[in-house]
Amino acid sequence: MTQPTPPWPMNQWYVAAYSSDIEAELFGRTICGEPLVFYRTVEGEVVALADRCVHRRFPLSKSQLVDDQVICGYHGFTYDRTGTCVAAPGQKRIPRSARVPSWPVAEQDSLVWVWIGDPERADTDRLPRAPWLDHADYTTVRGMESLAAGYELLVDNLLDLSHETYLHGGHIGTPEVAETPITTEVDEDAHIVYVSRHMDDAACPPFYARSTGIEGRITRWQDIEYHPPCLYLLHSRIAPVGTPDPVEGRPDDQAFRVEVVYAITPETERSTHDFWMVARDFALEDTEVSRFLAESNRTVVLQDVEALDVLQVVVESEKENYQELSINIDTGGLAARRMLKRQREAGALVEA
Ligand code: FES
Ligand SMILES: [Fe+2]
Repeated sequence: MTQPTPPWPMNQWYVAAYSSDIEAELFGRTICGEPLVFYRTVEGEVVALADRCVHRRFPLSKSQLVDDQVICGYHGFTYDRTGTCVAAPGQKRIPRSARVPSWPVAEQDSLVWVWIGDPERADTDRLPRAPWLDHADYTTVRGMESLAAGYELLVDNLLDLSHETYLHGGHIGTPEVAETPITTEVDEDAHIVYVSRHMDDAACPPFYARSTGIEGRITRWQDIEYHPPCLYLLHSRIAPVGTPDPVEGRPDDQAFRVEVVYAITPETERSTHDFWMVARDFALEDTEVSRFLAESNRTVVLQDVEALDVLQVVVESEKENYQELSINIDTGGLAARRMLKRQREAGALVEA
């Protein structure tokens, strides 16, 4: 039996929050159309429950957390960490159906992931990794912006960095980004799209000039690794022109590495949680570099947000069969779209 295709891949892990966001208090967030409430137990485990009381649907995120139990703020139904109602006002016997769904959660690399789909199929071996975010050799700055656009517009945006030249000039864009051709590879078995752009002799944009201290031209490598649906990694290598290419087993110590990570989490069909992180392997203790990178990256993300919010309105007002034109720079984005479509179709299939 087939159900309608959901607007996002089901039976997948999505980033719900940063680990530091979830404490021993109630935290509401909608993920893939599901209003959820999160909290951390006394033992440190993260719990995710449906954010609707089974009685009259009062949001549990607006309720009270006492001894790892959620007491509904309307009439006091009390839920344990599995979502089972353990107390109801005015009666001893609690109906067996008095429970709210609970959602599998995993915490890794300073990210809280939630499994959207059949809980029985939640498999932590399938969580993609971003180890720099929680590693002593890196310092990370991060944030999250709300996008009033569907997640696929953000995927398109991140898979094609030629837009840096035009949308982010003066921050991370220089002419060489748009001028340099890309190479794209798709690993169908591992579900990864790779897009690489290696610039041998490029201007150093302020984002890297001010953070690394490099004054001249640079070798700039952008190696994207997209793990649909949620995790996007941009391995960025910056080095003064003339620096030898890295060789296995030899330190690449004239180069600066920046790992830019995005988690692309649908909130609704037309809104997205845009998590951004910038991890660097230099100036680890320098708070001025941290402040500058955080501020610059946020500015860049907000430029994308502004553009994509406009694009969402345009796309929605367009006739059904509008034909876009794609060129070489879109190869990665098109591969990502195909992979997401397959994931959505797989998610729609249920056993008879
Ligand atoms: S709505 Fe929660 S107890 Fe009534
Ligand atoms: Fe951008």
